[in-house]
Amino acid sequence: MITFFIKTYGCQANVADSQGIAKFLTQMDCQEVATEGEADLLLVNTCAIRDKAEQKLYSYIGALRDHKAEKPYLKVGIIGCVASYKKNELYKRFDLVTFVAGAREELETIQKYLVDLVVQLETTKQLYEQNPNKEMNFGGQDRDIRKKAALNTTLKKPLLAPFGMLKRTKLAKPTSTEAKVGSLTPELKRSFINIMTGCDKRCTYCIVPFTRGKEVSYPASKLLEQVEHDVANGAKEINLVGQNVNSYVDPESGKAFPTLLERIAQIEGEFWVRYVSPHPRDMTVDLFDVMAAHRPKLAGYVHFPVQSGSNKILELMKRNHSIELFIEKVGWLRERMPDATVTTDIIVGFPGETEQDYQATRDLMEKVRFDHIYSFIYSPRKYTKASKMADDCPYEVKEQRLRDLQKRQIQISREQNEKNIGKTLKCLVEKRLENGKLLARTEGNVRVLFLGSNDLIGRFIDLHITGAAAAHLDAKLPELV
Ligand code: SAH
Ligand code: SF4
Ligand code: F3S
Repeated sequence: MITFFIKTYGCQANVADSQGIAKFLTQMDCQEVATEGEADLLLVNTCAIRDKAEQKLYSYIGALRDHKAEKPYLKVGIIGCVASYKKNELYKRFDLVTFVAGAREELETIQKYLVDLVVQLETTKQLYEQNPNKEMNFGGQDRDIRKKAALNTTLKKPLLAPFGMLKRTKLAKPTSTEAKVGSLTPELKRSFINIMTGCDKRCTYCIVPFTRGKEVSYPASKLLEQVEHDVANGAKEINLVGQNVNSYVDPESGKAFPTLLERIAQIEGEFWVRYVSPHPRDMTVDLFDVMAAHRPKLAGYVHFPVQSGSNKILELMKRNHSIELFIEKVGWLRERMPDATVTTDIIVGFPGETEQDYQATRDLMEKVRFDHIYSFIYSPRKYTKASKMADDCPYEVKEQRLRDLQKRQIQISREQNEKNIGKTLKCLVEKRLENGKLLARTEGNVRVLFLGSNDLIGRFIDLHITGAAAAHLDAKLPELV
């Protein structure tokens, strides 16, 4: 039997794609394993959003050399966003790489190619195990997987719809000594489903339109089927994923994102639905109306990326909305769901950002009081307009701005979390942490730590909130209070 391991970098779109590929390989009788060392087939799903992310991944791929030396028949595939725009470079830089398939490559092409690769792998593995000392040709790099896939005759039609499926939670029993302790403990079943892919917005700093291509929405009928399937198989959290989820349009009915959400909310069962990421420009009142009407199934949580509090910078970024409109839209949300959590993404040090622009972002934080922010220093990306813009701000100043922003956010997050002390909140239990506590999340996606038994994992339970920090709540089971 062929074993596989998928390392996933990047956003939830990649998580959804990895889940889809894992499901496909499992259908082909391959077995997912918990560590790299146990795998015959290793896939790395890559992210190109910032240079740091890319560099981290290069060291990871480089370190796979040891596994290849130990197991010469090992196949390594690089997929995802870096694979989309640096294909040749990856082939050149890493001898150990068998194939590179970008995020824009149809999943169908990858599937067809993988069918043959697995068969080939079965043969070489067997031969190697029979006689490890024999000189053998383990195959080199497959530089044109499209051509190989076209030659495939085994797989007549794709086994998978082009979006993610329920994450497999039970990994194969680790066989090697380096297996991670705890990889066999139960975990909540979370489903990540790509409802659309690609992006037509072309914000000036962002590489995604170049790695994932033009926006495509998947048919609602298929997505509903998928959610029903995942819920029937025990998923308690459904994550609808896309670069611009709220510009979704059902290709069959022409209906927009709120209708999709409404239809998902009508599916029977106890589960929470979240979605990432919406674009402020496409945020409409009826989306918030639908959410408010279907809580808690449509969870009271919105990740609402703003990037900057300065209108000048928003314009340079080509976000196509003013900060006043963003604040107004947060108002629409809070009017309907005052207790919903709101998180955001912020970039500091965009070309042309002055101290005054930065202060505008700080002011926005005071006005909106986000529950949490994901903040980044601007990273110039190949092909993007912003990478050609003049930037005279020293890097140390950018670092200082990031530190200042994060310091203030920690205070705000703690204050937001403290509002929950003394309340009893419905939470979904996710897994056991290394510190021995159980991790759960509130409807608003806030982490909650408490002491309890493994049978609670995957269940909705009430928790009594006893304390609050910036990044989590402390809680007790109500019977212990
Ligand atoms: N589609 C989403 C964002 C996807 S990328 C949206 O429009 O909000 C996730 C986040 O990475 C972005 O929100 C942005 O904050 C950050 N990001 C993207 N490109 C970046 C860059 N070149 N440098 C730094 N941060 C970046
Ligand atoms: Fe990138 Fe902008 Fe598209 Fe988001 S909306 S993926 S930030 S181009
Ligand atoms: Fe990264 Fe691609 Fe997502 S660049 S953030 S994995 S769309």
